[in-house]
Amino acid sequence: MIKAIVYTSAAGHTKEYAELLGKKTGVKVVALDEADLESGCEIIYMGWLFAGNIKGCAKAYKKYTVRALCAVGMAPPSETLTANLSAKNVKDKHTAFFYVQGGFDLQKLSGLNKFIMSLKAKSIRKNLEAKDSLSPEEKSVLKMVSEGVSVVQESNLAGITEWYRTKAENI
Ligand SMILES: Cc1cc2nc3c(=O)[nH]c(=O)nc-3n(C[C@H](O)[C@H](O)[C@H](O)COP(=O)(O)O)c2cc1C
Repeated sequence: MIKAIVYTSAAGHTKEYAELLGKKTGVKVVALDEADLESGCEIIYMGWLFAGNIKGCAKAYKKYTVRALCAVGMAPPSETLTANLSAKNVKDKHTAFFYVQGGFDLQKLSGLNKFIMSLKAKSIRKNLEAKDSLSPEEKSVLKMVSEGVSVVQESNLAGITEWYRTKAENI
């Protein structure tokens, strides 16, 4: 039985998703660093993407049984991205994997994360602005790194909500 939705969030997008999922499922929501759960208990883990790795994922696997893993990044979702992230981050064949797009907000970051992302955002902007034409996905990324955008919405959780409803208690 899933005991909690555990999350790690730097700028708040993953926290928002965890809280939305908690409301949808009735499962309690707790930050990884504050979680006081029984070792080995079943959880859904949600973490933000840092250079292709899900923050806190290794710690979550070490302490708990991760039944579902959800990455939150700034890139638009795609099958290829989901497959690559799943291959890199899933450590147990019983873990269901999901990816949702969160957002980007430099003002909500601090320290090293803010520094790294201010450089990264500049370089993404430079590359995209040099192109003659942009796809809709590229346009949305350009807007995100230029202005800061959140695309957090409950409908993005349809996949993981459906998994919880139909599969979570069936292994
Ligand atoms: C240092 C750093 C590295 C990041 N690397 C990636 C990445 O590899 N892929 C991606 O899609 N987003 C990346 N992001 C963007 C965040 O994952 C994205 O903004 C996410 O919504 C943040 O969630 P949070 O608000 O819960 O922290 C990175 C952000 C930072 C600060």
